[in-house]
Amino acid sequence: MSNQNRKSDIGLIGLAVMGENLVMNMESKGYTVSVFNRSIEKVTNFVNGRAKGLNIVGAYSLEELVGQLKSPRIVMLMVRAGQPVDDFITALLPLMDKGDVIIDGGNSHFPDTERRWKQVEEAGLYYIGTGVSGGEEGALLGPAVMPGGSPEAWPIVKPILQAISAKVGPNNDIPCCQWVGRGGAGHYVKMIHNGIEYGDMQLICEVYQFMRDGLGMSNDQMHDTFAHWNEGKLDSYLIEITRDILAQKDEEGNYVVDLVLDRAGQKGTGKWTGMEALEHGIPLTLIIEAVLARSLSSLKGERVEASKYLVGPNRKVADPPADILDALHNALYASKIVSYAQGFALLRAASEEYDWDLNYGNIAMMWRGGCIIRSAFLDDIKDAFVADPALPNLLLNKYFHDEVAACQDGWRTTLALAIQAGIPTPSMSAALSWYDGYRCASLPANLLQAQRDYFGAHTYERVDKPRGEYFHTNWGGQGGQTSATTYTV
Ligand code: 6PG
Repeated sequence: MSNQNRKSDIGLIGLAVMGENLVMNMESKGYTVSVFNRSIEKVTNFVNGRAKGLNIVGAYSLEELVGQLKSPRIVMLMVRAGQPVDDFITALLPLMDKGDVIIDGGNSHFPDTERRWKQVEEAGLYYIGTGVSGGEEGALLGPAVMPGGSPEAWPIVKPILQAISAKVGPNNDIPCCQWVGRGGAGHYVKMIHNGIEYGDMQLICEVYQFMRDGLGMSNDQMHDTFAHWNEGKLDSYLIEITRDILAQKDEEGNYVVDLVLDRAGQKGTGKWTGMEALEHGIPLTLIIEAVLARSLSSLKGERVEASKYLVGPNRKVADPPADILDALHNALYASKIVSYAQGFALLRAASEEYDWDLNYGNIAMMWRGGCIIRSAFLDDIKDAFVADPALPNLLLNKYFHDEVAACQDGWRTTLALAIQAGIPTPSMSAALSWYDGYRCASLPANLLQAQRDYFGAHTYERVDKPRGEYFHTNWGGQGGQTSATTYTV
């Protein structure tokens, strides 16, 4: 520490790569940071190594860490989500004073954040649960930061969180960090970000399999195609890294992507997003399929056996049209629009249910830079919500309506060819089915309601009667008479 008497602006606990990089980022913005880690050697190694000569101070106990901080004290946890967060909160509360702030910057599940927020506020302190996205590099150079929790703490933490966040806009001065909402809102928005991340990744993988198996394209050809796409409407971090992955060779000249086992991992944020959608009855079909596609991929042994037994087309697209790559591009783009439409619909449902008053334009801009789903396309989403903050679905915005209309032929061609060739496209198919369902004024749910009423007398509403009146029919009974009893709810 250059000035031994100067107190630190913030304390950070958890010196894994994300934590270390966030500390370096904070220090580079002029903040003095105290650091602590459960395994004390990490503190010594960090302050004597990477942090040497910088305004970074090692603490060897929580008491020491808290004692090094300016008031109101800010302590940020960058530890594994789950029990370690609870353990540190319990240990910190008696050491800190009223008005101090604890920040959890891990991928915590939002109900845990809600619970901890109440616990910390009851002790007279403030709590921030914040999403931090962008991986190791983002943490160092500027992540997207999605803070929620105690509104009173926002003015205290805003300068530092906005300083370390990515910046976007024509003058590169709009921070990808804005207040999200009370309680678990910040971690909720990060959870939706991750669900969308799952969807984007799965869509790209489906296109990759279509190109590789269906069209027999080489890694170099696919690299060139993704490079080209990254210059247009699909311009995004995930397309960019896909481009780079396809070109990566090992020391022996093998393409690394061909050596990677096709078995996807997951830590749970996508699953939580799907569970929330089911909880609120929001048709988040694309992301849920993306989560389940990872589950299917993990059945590697079973799939290998099934591949020897189950019959079907060989995944070669027989006669691809000359413009098949344009069709694939449009299929990917239209599906992505549907994914975000579904994700924002879930955010809207949550905002109403949990009384968060989320600002969807701000959320789009927070995701515009620094995070894993950053893309040019988020500007258009922001514009849509600025034009109409109450927009019920992104597809009802004229720009997105027109974009999907223009992509539609290629989208349908791609999926028809994939189905004929036996190429799995769970998320892309889910997107188109959702689109066709959403624009369908008359779905077959009339038959479904009749079935429910038949076997369980669950009653149904009628097209020729006011909504809210419920009827029961004695199905298959004498003359199939409708019961005289109506139920108004
Ligand atoms: C981010 C990422 C990150 C997430 C990884 C792994 O925004 O930086 O979302 O938070 O942990 O992407 O997630 P899975 O292991 O579930 O794929």
